Amino acid sequence: MGIEPASLAFYALGAIALALLLLKLKTRLELTLAKHRSLTGHVRMARRIAALIPFYEYDEARFFACDDAPDEIAARRHAGFMRLTALYRERFAQTIRRTAEVAPGISDLQFTGAYRVPFQFSRFVRAHLAAGAFVQSSDGVTLTDLDGNRLYDLTGSYGVNVLGYDFYKDCMERGQEKVRALGPVLGAYHPVIADNVARLKQISGLDEVSFHMSGTEAVMQAVRLARYHTRRSRLVRFCGAYHGWWGDVAPGVGNPLRARETYTLQEMSDATLRVLRRRRDIACVLVNPLQALHPNAAAPADSGLVDSARTAHFDRAAYTDWLRRLRAVCTERKIVLIFDEVFVGFRIAAGGAQEYFGVAADLVTYGKTLGGGLPIGVLCGRSDLMKRFRDDRPVDVCFARGTFNSHPYVLAAMHEFLQRLATPELQALYRDLDAVWDRRAQRLNQRLREERLPVEVANLSSIWTVSYTQPSRYNWMLQYYLRAEGLALSWVGTGRLIFSLNYTEADFEVVADRFVAAAKAMHEDGWWWSDAKTTNKSIKQRILREIIAHRWSPARGQEKAS
Ligand SMILES: Cc1ncc(COP(=O)(O)O)c(C=O)c1O
Repeated sequence: MGIEPASLAFYALGAIALALLLLKLKTRLELTLAKHRSLTGHVRMARRIAALIPFYEYDEARFFACDDAPDEIAARRHAGFMRLTALYRERFAQTIRRTAEVAPGISDLQFTGAYRVPFQFSRFVRAHLAAGAFVQSSDGVTLTDLDGNRLYDLTGSYGVNVLGYDFYKDCMERGQEKVRALGPVLGAYHPVIADNVARLKQISGLDEVSFHMSGTEAVMQAVRLARYHTRRSRLVRFCGAYHGWWGDVAPGVGNPLRARETYTLQEMSDATLRVLRRRRDIACVLVNPLQALHPNAAAPADSGLVDSARTAHFDRAAYTDWLRRLRAVCTERKIVLIFDEVFVGFRIAAGGAQEYFGVAADLVTYGKTLGGGLPIGVLCGRSDLMKRFRDDRPVDVCFARGTFNSHPYVLAAMHEFLQRLATPELQALYRDLDAVWDRRAQRLNQRLREERLPVEVANLSSIWTVSYTQPSRYNWMLQYYLRAEGLALSWVGTGRLIFSLNYTEADFEVVADRFVAAAKAMHEDGWWWSDAKTTNKSIKQRILREIIAHRWSPARGQEKAS
């Protein structure tokens, strides 16, 4: 007896449905495999877990011995801490007083103040080792606070300060002279814009430029244009990479909304390339080349320094190879490749990451230093991608504005910056840049090793990060010892040290001496005491136990878990 045609059709439909389902599952599985194993790579789960973590803190006794250090060590730590407290109160008196006065009215200050160190220690540290938020002047590579203390600047002003503060003061002053007659007229341009555009086209190797007010907005516009031209919605960002604080590029913890159109994938991974090859919904891939220093890890802030697992290592050849392969897949799949050079542009090479790694992007964002000291975001791109309207669909436009987008003062300071950048003296500065900064990092590491201190630095040119070579819960204390030695750090602490390129060998030697002195003092005060059985894993397990204990027994108040 033969099979009925109706049954045949039924089976065929069933087989097609099954095949489609399997295909969907396979695509889904590929996406899952392209995520980084860490929580940073799983942004939704990270948000859920973050919402579960309760506040708790250590009482004074636990503060100094949360790793079960013997009494003698806890006493040494206590004495060292109180010595620092007295020193801060005396040396930074005015600066701390003014900071305390304004903090209740400045939300940013309250946030950064609270997140300098892991939250279990934060309140006690704030009460005793308040960090001042004021400086009154800058000069060479130093900052002077309200108490007249001169501190070597390792903050780099969020990366803006590439060429030294005096350079930017000049750019701003000379720029202002150029455009004073026009003043704050917006909408119409000052003629300096023409030269800026010509120079930016030449530097980026791209056809068009748009001006924005911050790096965040330049990135927003890059992604919006990529979506408009590809008619696809998804953007790919890499695990841990920062691209400003706009929601779609900052999914996960910190963003109250779920970013529905973002894939966070593993960087330097074949599984990611497979996803890019396979899927049809990806408009663009965002690359922040700073991640080359710590691929797939988030910005290394000391608030997350709960153990010594933080590591960094820059491998130029491996990252170049990755970018080349990424470039090839994006070209093949017509995915827009965006280099976000807001941080590294003009810092690692005069022509930025494109020049440094020898890979061309379709769109490039710049910001920070390019404003010559004033706020800026710039997008450079191929003309087919930069176009904001369609010739054949006059109403289908891609909208972008911004009241202050081409402010004459900003464009004039940028003009000064770009003109100076082209001079032989500044071009020469970039020639041996990596050799200079690699040598300095190696020298400091050598000294730290000789002193048997459990600290090391890693660098991507003049961008440095500090790692710790032996398991400890107190590494974040180093930032307070460094400040006591007259080194200014940003609120992320030892996670990111940013040098300006006008640091001379002599300046650097002073910083290195102070760095070693700070680490020695911290060592002598017992913070790096450790018993043989402590590992980074055991520290994490212990913190997990504390969290569980406080989560399900809120009445416990002060920390008791062990
Ligand atoms: C790579 C990158 N993209 C974008 C941004 C955002 O720039 P802005 O702070 O000017 O909005 C930053 C800021 O740090 C950045 O480092």
